Amino acid sequence: METTDDYQWHAGRTTPVENAAIEFIGVKKAFGRNQVLNGLDMALPQDQISMILGPSGTGKSVCIKHMVGLLYPDDGDVLIHGESVPAMPDDDLFEMRKKFGVLFQDGALFGSMNLYDNVAFPLRQHTDKGEDEIAHIVNQRLDEVGLGDANDKMPNELSGGMRKRAGFARALVLDPDIVLFDEPDSGLDPVRTALLCELIQEIHAENGGAYVVITHDIASARRVAEYIAVLWKGQIVESGAATDLFESSNPFVRQFLSGESQGPLGME
Ligand SMILES: Nc1ncnc2c1ncn2[C@@H]1O[C@H](COP(=O)(O)OP(=O)(O)OP(=O)(O)O)[C@@H](O)[C@H]1O
Ligand SMILES: [Mg+2]
Repeated sequence: METTDDYQWHAGRTTPVENAAIEFIGVKKAFGRNQVLNGLDMALPQDQISMILGPSGTGKSVCIKHMVGLLYPDDGDVLIHGESVPAMPDDDLFEMRKKFGVLFQDGALFGSMNLYDNVAFPLRQHTDKGEDEIAHIVNQRLDEVGLGDANDKMPNELSGGMRKRAGFARALVLDPDIVLFDEPDSGLDPVRTALLCELIQEIHAENGGAYVVITHDIASARRVAEYIAVLWKGQIVESGAATDLFESSNPFVRQFLSGESQGPLGME
C-alpha cells in the first residue's frame, strides 16, 4: 500500500525544462495491482544527453515504451515535441516513430541477416531511397561505429559489444531526432562500456537531438549525462542538470548516485 512515507525523499519538484523533447504529465500506469508509474511528471530536454536512473523494476523500460506508443498511460499524457502520443491516430503514430532511433538491450539484430542488411533494414522499410544511396548511408554509419569492415558478418559472429555498436548504427540510419538507449552498457566490460559512452557522445555531438539513456552504470552517467532524472516508485525523486544531481543533498539521490548500501534504498 502506498503511504506518504513512500514519497518522503521525492523532492516534489522538477527543474522546469525549456524546450522539452519529451514530456510525461501526471502519467499513471498499472499492470493489474502493480502501480508502476504513479503520476509521473518528467521532461527531457532537446539537444542533450539525458539519463534516466533508478532501481531495477522501477519503470524505466515502461517509460521508453510510452514514448514510442507501445504502451498507453491509464491517466495523464506523454508528449513528443509537444504532440500527445496516446491521442495520435495510428497513421500519425507510424510517422512519429520515424523520429526515433531505439537501441534495445541486446541490440535486437535480425539473426538471419548480415550486418549490412540489418543496418539497411529501416531505410528499405521506411524510405524510397535507392540501393546506391542506402549503401552510402549504411557504410557511413558502420564506419562511424567502427564496424566498416564487418559488413557481411552475421550477428552470431559478433561479440556483445559489436552487436551493441551495430544496433546503434541501425538506430541512426533514419537521422532520428530522438535516440533511446535501454541499457546500452549491460553485459559489457568496463572498457567497452567507456568506449560505447564515448561513441554516444561523439555521435551526439555530430548529429544533435535528444538522446535518452537508461543505465545502471553510474560511471557512465558521470561521463556522458548532461541531464539526469532519478525515478523511484513511479515518480521522479529529483531531476535536473547532471552537475546539480551529483551535488544533490537528497539522501536517496546521494545514495543511488554513489552506489552505497547505507541510505533510504533497501532491498525491499
Ligand atoms: N507488459 C507488462 N505486463 C505486466 N507487467 C509489466 C509489463 N511491463 C513491465 N511490467 C512491470 O512493470 C514494472 C517495471 O518494469 P520495467 O521493465 O519498466 O523496470 P525497469 O525500471 O526497466 O527495471 P530494470 O532496471 O531491471 O530494467 C515491473 O514490476 C514489471 O514487472
Ligand atoms: Mg529495464
